[in-house]
Amino acid sequence: MRIGGLDLAGKIFLAPLAGITTLPVREFFTEHGASLTHTEMISCAGLIRDNAKTFDMLESSEHEGPLVVQLFANDSGVLVSGGEVVRERCKKFSAFGINMACPMPKITKNGCGSAILRKPGLAAEMVKGLKTLGVPVWVKMRRLEDDEDTLRFADVIISAGADNVCIHGRTPSQRYEGIADRSIISQSSREFPGMISASGDVREVKDIEEYLSMGCAGVMIARGAFSNPFMIEEYCGRIRSRDEKISELLNFAHRAYEISGEHKAVVLMKRFAGSILRNERGSAELRQKAMMSGSLEEITEILKKGNVTI
Ligand SMILES: Cc1cc2nc3c(=O)[nH]c(=O)nc-3n(C[C@H](O)[C@H](O)[C@H](O)COP(=O)(O)O)c2cc1C
Repeated sequence: MRIGGLDLAGKIFLAPLAGITTLPVREFFTEHGASLTHTEMISCAGLIRDNAKTFDMLESSEHEGPLVVQLFANDSGVLVSGGEVVRERCKKFSAFGINMACPMPKITKNGCGSAILRKPGLAAEMVKGLKTLGVPVWVKMRRLEDDEDTLRFADVIISAGADNVCIHGRTPSQRYEGIADRSIISQSSREFPGMISASGDVREVKDIEEYLSMGCAGVMIARGAFSNPFMIEEYCGRIRSRDEKISELLNFAHRAYEISGEHKAVVLMKRFAGSILRNERGSAELRQKAMMSGSLEEITEILKKGNVTI
């Protein structure tokens, strides 16, 4: 199906998550049903300054599917220069993303992320500028306090040429708290058919179904990717046993180790561990043990033994 200027196999995507949606995580979700994934947000200023850590975020592989490289900047010139660096350095990407959503002060104080929601003129300029590089442009924004303002902002970026607009149904001042509003997503999907992807509180299959029933072009899995890593497969009717899930996660751990080293692999496995241990007898104690573990070997043991040890 054609979504956001791309040919995609489905409508469920992995959202951008800073510090998390690195290459091994994206490969895992590509293999487990995500039809598109995002990098974490990447600083265009860092790309232009030749910052080595920022370049690391452009690592990609043939084991991942369509990839949106999400950029942030406070100026359209800087954004486009960052996009040019991505074009040179990133082996495999399908679209640019622009972050107009991040509410964290270290980002907004420089006029990036959700600070752009207050500057529709700049937002339009950014979309138009990045479109000149000849690649689809996906924008991620947040709900504004007023629904009419949200629709107006989405209209501005779509009129400027954005290929897809993901709306996170929380306002910037809500940050990651409270419930994501779904009615604005539903309204926007009616107003801009085929253009709106949804983000916010996608924890279970029924959340995916609800967003799709509103006519969303796509649904982004974010924190739910860790609490329920096999959710997309479940949506597609594939139910895995506990042993299968563990085996898939251990394969992931090996790949994460290979790409990013043990420390990062352990950090990511800790995020996944809760999804397996949640329903075990004595799960609180097991999860605590998993959180304390310092090596892949330790966390693997905890996952494998699970309730057998209690
Ligand atoms: C740890 C973390 C990092 C995030 N990083 C990004 C990011 O880099 N870019 C972005 O557009 N959104 C980012 N988000 C927002 C998510 O993509 C998503 O919109 C949000 O978490 C709402 O979905 P959820 O309630 O299903 O988690 C981040 C969220 C979290 C929790």
